Amino acid sequence: MNALEISQLSKTYVDSYSGEEVTAVGDVSFGVAEGEFVSVLGPSGCGKTTVLNIVAGFVRGTGGSVVVDGKPVERPGPDRGVVFQGHALFPWKTVLGNVVFGLRIRGVPRAERTARGLEFLDLVGLRGFEGKYPHELSGGMQQRLGVARVLANEPALMLMDEPFASIDAQTRRKLQEDLTAIVEQQHPTVFFVTHDVDEAVFLSDRIVVLSGRPSRVREIVEVALPRPRTWRTTVELPEFRATANRVNELLAGDEDHAHAVDASS
Ligand SMILES: Nc1ncnc2c1ncn2[C@@H]1O[C@H](COP(=O)(O)OP(=O)(O)OP(=O)(O)O)[C@@H](O)[C@H]1O
Ligand SMILES: [Mg+2]
Repeated sequence: MNALEISQLSKTYVDSYSGEEVTAVGDVSFGVAEGEFVSVLGPSGCGKTTVLNIVAGFVRGTGGSVVVDGKPVERPGPDRGVVFQGHALFPWKTVLGNVVFGLRIRGVPRAERTARGLEFLDLVGLRGFEGKYPHELSGGMQQRLGVARVLANEPALMLMDEPFASIDAQTRRKLQEDLTAIVEQQHPTVFFVTHDVDEAVFLSDRIVVLSGRPSRVREIVEVALPRPRTWRTTVELPEFRATANRVNELLAGDEDHAHAVDASS
């Protein structure tokens, strides 16, 4: 059984004023195995965030089903941890306070949650900053804190929507390596949304490429790169370029289709 199973998912938004309908997600099916890292790529507006929000329980699908650990998703829950692009940290809480927040809610005793919180701060390289506040951290450090906060809750499923999009290229590469090291150590199940093909190839076990709106799965690309991965050792491998080229081809094929539709209208 997959940790996450998305079957024939569709989502049509209806504008509450005009009544106008937009079908973002047409017919999307794929699964994510336990401990697997799956990225979703596709043209802007094809419904990647919508799919992630449906899995998180923030939005309801129009058709199809989403099952996490054998249970249909009906609402948000602690079994699914979301790392948002804008960090969504509590500015009034310390770094440690942010990491242990979920544990506190779940009633984990103070000594235990402090120990666990420090362990996860160590994992993301933020040990020593536990007494600081989010505004005292760099953007990259805030992003790592966001990852630590979700990991500390040990969710069955980590949902990440372009978590590194607003971070400079150099820091982003470092964070991708950090995340890979964490993934290789902790084996969380991850559903990762990105626009960055190289990032998807570097991080993932498989890449789901979606078509434009209303989206369908164009192809699921296996990433046959060895782990542990670092940028230095991975980019030079012929499989890295070959996989990235395949994903780019699939995405470009979609543009051609879009142009063809434009030209005919
Ligand atoms: N709450 C909403 N109400 C109405 N329409 C929405 C809503 N959220 C998203 N949409 C529409 O659904 C489509 C898909 O949006 P979504 O944010 O899921 O795309 P995306 O693939 O994540 O795009 P991007 O790559 O730009 O982040 C878009 O046309 C968008 O305008
Ligand atoms: Mg999006």
